[in-house]
Amino acid sequence: EKGGYEHFMMKEIFEQPRSILDSMRGRLELEAGHLNMGGVRAYERKFVTADRIIIVACGTSWHAGLVAEYLLEDLARIPVEVEYASEFRYRNPIITERDIVIAISQSGETADTLAAIELAKSKGATIFGICNVVGSSIARATDAGAYTHAGPEIGVASTKAFTAQVTVLTLLAMIVGHKRGTLSDTKLRELMMELSNIPSKVEKALLLNTEIEQMAEIFKDVSNFLYLGRGYNFPVALEGALKLKEISYIHAEGYPAAEMKHGPIALIDENMPVVVIATKDSSYEKVVSNIQEVKARKGRIIAVVTEGDDVIPQMAEFVIEVPATSEVLTPLVSVVPLQLLSYHIAVLRGCNVDQPRNLAKSVTVE
Ligand code: F6R
Repeated sequence: EKGGYEHFMMKEIFEQPRSILDSMRGRLELEAGHLNMGGVRAYERKFVTADRIIIVACGTSWHAGLVAEYLLEDLARIPVEVEYASEFRYRNPIITERDIVIAISQSGETADTLAAIELAKSKGATIFGICNVVGSSIARATDAGAYTHAGPEIGVASTKAFTAQVTVLTLLAMIVGHKRGTLSDTKLRELMMELSNIPSKVEKALLLNTEIEQMAEIFKDVSNFLYLGRGYNFPVALEGALKLKEISYIHAEGYPAAEMKHGPIALIDENMPVVVIATKDSSYEKVVSNIQEVKARKGRIIAVVTEGDDVIPQMAEFVIEVPATSEVLTPLVSVVPLQLLSYHIAVLRGCNVDQPRNLAKSVTVE
């Protein structure tokens, strides 16, 4: 059942080239040059004229929502707000009929997300669901939606569901952006091409496994970790930290790299490992300066960089090279080594990675 892997989590991490492909199947038609999403078609006008999109989710799905904020604002120029479902539902939020609420949930059973949907529905918003489990409560409560088709996710720590969510949200942003005229034919075509290359780039990132396992050996006994990223890699930093804390029980925090100087920098000394996601994108130069700031305080830098980077390897203690891709697609590749790092650290610490203490696969209580 674990397909030869020791844990479901590992199996699911390694399934990602396939699950990402499955989440695009029938939706991205490269030859024909078009994108289809059944659930979007009937609500196309709504998406094109929406004043605003509100995304509600919890945990890892909320991180996918943060990536979607960047995607939808970049590609479709629609203002987006990303909300923790639990906070949104209790603060008398302003919602109108011209809003679209996107609910993201692997299980489709998360109580807070479901309650947020019911609230938004009562105010007349259109609800679009992105779920992995077919026929789940959230899938049934929405007006329309798209399944992620990642296949069953058994490990409590979400991995392939996250990359499938991000893939579906990318397709959505591309479709809506193209319809709104904010994403040109040429740019759309380029992104379609690059998205279709993602499964093989993820495959390549998975080849880092042995190297990351060795790194895990070095860091397995530390008690804190900091994760930094900017732009599209900011949500990835949060996700990397969440993965580590939930399965290895090491305290970890994710931060937007530029916020470091507003507080967390005080934590940095020679005992603090700092994972910096520093791929070649529009914030690269700035992230390089953030690395310098960490280095000046003797922090131990583990940098996730784009293949061929020749600057950061001179500054970081460890470097993890991932394949280059389009900036908007970066999270799909850069999250992979972070999943592997937390997996190996947790295994080396003797933790039950598939069923971490105090956690359940779906949180059906508020
Ligand atoms: C993290 C994790 C949780 C879930 C969260 C939402 O690895 O698994 O943070 O992401 O409980 O669950 P869903 O997506 O099922 O609504």
